[in-house]
Amino acid sequence: MFEELENAFTSSLEELTQAQTPADLDIWYKGSLGRKGKLNLMARRVGQLEPDKRPEFGRRVNQLKKELEKAHKDRQDQLKGIDLDSVLAADGLDVTLPGRRPVRGGLHPATMTLRQIYRIWGDMGFQIYRSRDVETDELNFELLNMPKHHPARDMWDTFHTTTPGVILRTHTSPGQIHAMREYFPEPIRVILPGMCYRYEQITARSEIQFSQVEGLAVGTKISMADLKGTLVNFTRRMFGLERKTRFRASYFPFTEPSAEMDVECILCSGTGCQVCKYTGWLEILGCGMVHPRVLKNGGYDPAKYSGFAFGLGPERIAMLKYSIDDIRYFWSNDLRFLKQF
Ligand code: FA5
Repeated sequence: MFEELENAFTSSLEELTQAQTPADLDIWYKGSLGRKGKLNLMARRVGQLEPDKRPEFGRRVNQLKKELEKAHKDRQDQLKGIDLDSVLAADGLDVTLPGRRPVRGGLHPATMTLRQIYRIWGDMGFQIYRSRDVETDELNFELLNMPKHHPARDMWDTFHTTTPGVILRTHTSPGQIHAMREYFPEPIRVILPGMCYRYEQITARSEIQFSQVEGLAVGTKISMADLKGTLVNFTRRMFGLERKTRFRASYFPFTEPSAEMDVECILCSGTGCQVCKYTGWLEILGCGMVHPRVLKNGGYDPAKYSGFAFGLGPERIAMLKYSIDDIRYFWSNDLRFLKQF
């Protein structure tokens, strides 16, 4: 019996070297170490031995089973190694092939323009103040001196939400009230950039969503001359020294006096085109001295404080800078357009 056991062990080891695949290994395992495998069948015959030989036989069976388990594991690892080698040989990298370039994105022209605007105002000491896109009617209109049913509200066609009194801001001006209430009684020099929404007809120069950059300066001796000087300085840095600008008297309920600033149309050099509506000028911003009532709503005493404010349209500025003749390109996500910047 002992000899038979040793023979079963040696033949199992030999068979193991013949196994070439994981399936071969499974078959081998069943035949040698499985419940009905050679070694277990031998173990069952222990009763045929003299009682004093049985413990020794049992010990030897366990020892040989352990050795076979180890040999099985070694063969498994060996086969895995062979497998990996053949995969590497078949799928080898050809390092001489030219590489694939990663596709790189770029900044949107509106973002580029916004960053340039931030830089210029930052140099002049204006901090960026972030306000909210969803506003109340009170902040968007009433506190800016436009009570309900005020005819000036017609200038801003509004998107209303299903919550009464909550709207999408039509301009960045409500941010003036937030900033004033936060900074009072300190002097203020901020710009308030952000998206605005208007329910109006989409044309070559008007979108229903567009960015604005609001500016607000509040202090004790701020005059209209400061407003004009600061804005002219801005346009010179934005468009170059030679670009003509002009102020036109205008009306906004939240500034008094009010004006609009135009820049000579770069697309047609002032001769008239579709974008400038054949006037030669393109309006880039509205501005004025902050209305006493608005200062008061922000917490500042109009007898002591004064200030100026403006609201400019970065997309219109980008159109001028890059000679873009239709504002609809900005949101149409056309890569042929975007890749040019
Ligand atoms: C305003 O929105 C005022 N809140 C601006 C202001 C601020 C005046 C502070 C006084 C003091 P207006 O509606 O004109 O004004 O818009 C300001 C600028 O936003 C315009 O000059 C234009 O550049 C841009 N803009 C207005 N409507 C659109 C539109 N539909 N699409 C793209 N840009 C627009």
